[in-house]
Amino acid sequence: MKVLVIGSGGREHCIAWKISKSDFVEKIYAIPGNPGIAELAECKNIDIKKENFSQIISFVEEKGIDFTIVGPEAPLVDGIVDVFGKRGHKIFGPDMKGAVLEGSKVFTKDLCKKYEIPTPGSHAFKRSDRQKANNYLGKLEDNKFPVVIKVDGLAAGKGVIIAQTKEQALSAVEQCFIKNVFGSSGDYIVIEDFMKGFELSLLNLCDGKNIIPMVLAQDYKKIFDNDMGKNTGGMGSYSPVPFVSDDLYDKILNRIIYPTYDALLKEGITYKGILYGGIIVEEGEPYLLEYNCRFGDPETQAILPRLNSDLLELLVKCAGGKLSSQKLSWSNNKCVCVIMASKGYPESSSSGDIIKGLDDLKNNEDITVFHAGTRYEDSNIATAGGRVLGAASCAPSFKEARNKIYTAIDKIKFDGMQFRKDIALRVEEDPPC
Ligand code: GLY
Repeated sequence: MKVLVIGSGGREHCIAWKISKSDFVEKIYAIPGNPGIAELAECKNIDIKKENFSQIISFVEEKGIDFTIVGPEAPLVDGIVDVFGKRGHKIFGPDMKGAVLEGSKVFTKDLCKKYEIPTPGSHAFKRSDRQKANNYLGKLEDNKFPVVIKVDGLAAGKGVIIAQTKEQALSAVEQCFIKNVFGSSGDYIVIEDFMKGFELSLLNLCDGKNIIPMVLAQDYKKIFDNDMGKNTGGMGSYSPVPFVSDDLYDKILNRIIYPTYDALLKEGITYKGILYGGIIVEEGEPYLLEYNCRFGDPETQAILPRLNSDLLELLVKCAGGKLSSQKLSWSNNKCVCVIMASKGYPESSSSGDIIKGLDDLKNNEDITVFHAGTRYEDSNIATAGGRVLGAASCAPSFKEARNKIYTAIDKIKFDGMQFRKDIALRVEEDPPC
């Protein structure tokens, strides 16, 4: 089977890496890919925006590609699956109607309210309701802060603002509605109650009728150790999450994930692809923070290395509505992924810094280095974005996996490289519950 992977990040490198081990794969292509993916796939440099979907289809037809896997959310929200479907091409991911779960926070909040799916309390305001939003915040008692302001549409991971005070919340509303920082994604906002707890990511394979949960993972969103500093796209991840009891896991599935899937069917949405639930657990009870319509990044880099089943076979079955008899097989190993980011990230990012040490790790069986923001610079590989690389390792214990990763990271050098040193630290000894 000829397979195309759409995207250029660590998640897509990990998907291509896993697909390369499939019994069914003949050749892998990537659009646009990155230098890491280029070691596994033939890459074609097309910017994956809506205007270029027809160019992507032409590439699929020219190369005789049998199956396409979409990594990032934007093309899904923009309807790439619908466009492929109309041309009779097989593709993995939800259609536009399904991708609205990530494309509109207001839609998801309304769905949760209608079907009584536990989620933090919230109020939604349109741009034309700016005064109502301000009045709502104005009347909130000081002890109701922080609050969370979320823009409705996609915002490349930057659309969630935690406002510690009334002033910060009013300023966030101004950024959305007056300064237009998020463009049309900020036409609508959700003001959500802040919940204190720990977060989990649960990715589920969906074929339109059946849903199969994958293993749990945890993502580290803050830039600095001990969850300090600004939010990022994710600075590391690990799987499994050993402190989650069977009871809590069952609650997540039975109160949130399965009812959502049923709700989607009732709303006439045949959801195929990954349904990624971002869950917060407060005082032992799970609540839905957000849904994403694709694999998580960097959770994927800690989940897929543990998957023994053939990923390509699973994704093809999802797209074809044939998951019902499928069982997933997982390694008991612990997997950890640590992200290396460029200078200035997340406020800015540095490009063009030469990365040294990658060759030393190429044949290291203990470590897989996934490229995220990298590019060729003559015969070198250089940084090309905020999150640059992710090093993943699996081992019988988190301690061993961490040791292997941090030993490997010592070999990688680029100017301004930053990474967290506490990924999966104390998971077993000092869990958050
Ligand atoms: N790790 C968060 C995300 O993929 O959105």
